[in-house]
Amino acid sequence: MKKRILVTGGTGYIGSHTVVELQNSGYDVVIVDNLSNSRADVVDSIEQITGIRPAFEKVDCLDYEGLDNVFAKYPGIQGIIHFAASKAVGESVQKPLLYYRNNLVSLINILELMPKHNVKGIIFSSSCTVYGQPDKLPVTEDAPIKKAESPYGNTKQINEEIIRDTVASGSPIHAIMLRYFNPIGAHPTALIGELPNGVPQNLIPYLTQTAMGIREKLSVFGDDYDTPDGSCIRDYIYVVDLAKAHVIAMNRILEDKQKDKVEVFNVGTGRGVSVLELINKFEEATGVKLNYQITGRRAGDIVKVWADPAYANTELGWKAEATLEDTLRSAWKWQVHLREKGIM
Ligand code: NAD
Ligand code: WQD
Repeated sequence: MKKRILVTGGTGYIGSHTVVELQNSGYDVVIVDNLSNSRADVVDSIEQITGIRPAFEKVDCLDYEGLDNVFAKYPGIQGIIHFAASKAVGESVQKPLLYYRNNLVSLINILELMPKHNVKGIIFSSSCTVYGQPDKLPVTEDAPIKKAESPYGNTKQINEEIIRDTVASGSPIHAIMLRYFNPIGAHPTALIGELPNGVPQNLIPYLTQTAMGIREKLSVFGDDYDTPDGSCIRDYIYVVDLAKAHVIAMNRILEDKQKDKVEVFNVGTGRGVSVLELINKFEEATGVKLNYQITGRRAGDIVKVWADPAYANTELGWKAEATLEDTLRSAWKWQVHLREKGIM
């Protein structure tokens, strides 16, 4: 009997890659997504890649009854991976209540339903944003949580606390919070990838759209920071490596040894890369020339952050494997696919 997992936000960017890896590892997956930031045809693409069609329910995680019905329709769900959330930092500043409602109430509904349906554990999508600008680099999981820069970032911090308090109150679940660094790239088949809404706010989609000629120029937000080349530094993690971390974390939850426990893992490569280095690597890896210019700093930008992934490496047994070149090639291949399909 395959073990059944519920994946909220499973048609989204990271969710879809994770569903592929879960199915490839023998899990039976049920996706719940309200399609607010993804397309239903992602389910077809997942089927094309894996040969297995995941169950899909268009349900909003804010809808308690709707979620309850999903558990009734698919009995025996053992674990949940909770990706569903609103994630645009700038929009969260404009619409804080939308972000607080969507990101907090969705999690609360799920945590309430878990004991009712005997679900063993949850993996929560957290973010390196909780560290703000860390005092020490690479950043470890015990680094202090800094005051959030945005309502979005604040929802990640509050959700981590909601999970801790729920487990501390005696809820018999095992919670694993994965703090993602900067996920980039797309599945090697180019059948799934990131589908940004409107003008991308994040570096890689803006970069690949510029390389495609959809945008005129990539703005590099500052070259006068205290870094070797003056541009900001991040830890870019290949989305398929990130997806695999979820499979390993889910195996750990279902081994059943860590009940009543909350664990936190950084999911990053441990490699800090500047914006200018990334542009060079992209040009080298793809042979495509990029039109860019240095502009002013972006308000609120973190100067430098990269992970210490040692705890995930040793305790979880997970390690980022992809090279940055391969990752950037996959992002470009995805952009080309979007053009060929007339999507973008
Ligand atoms: P995404 O927007 O591609 O995926 C999220 C999915 O959740 C979408 O398909 C959306 O339709 C769905 N969704 C949103 N609200 C919902 C609701 N109320 N009910 C049901 N479905 C809902 O985003 P992503 O990049 O795949 O991110 C997944 C998770 O990882 C999010 O929680 C995000 O905050 C977190 N995260 C992302 C990044 C990143 O840079 N992409 C970094 C750190 C953490
Ligand atoms: C990366 C680097 C920019 C665009 C965001 C969220 C954070 C987390 C990850 C979810 C920075 C530079 C960007 C551009 C540029 N998400 N840049 N020109 O800032 O690390 O974080 O995504 O939890 O919460 O805030 O990612 O992709 O926006 O930027 O020069 O047009 O690229 O300054 O150094 P960031 P990003």
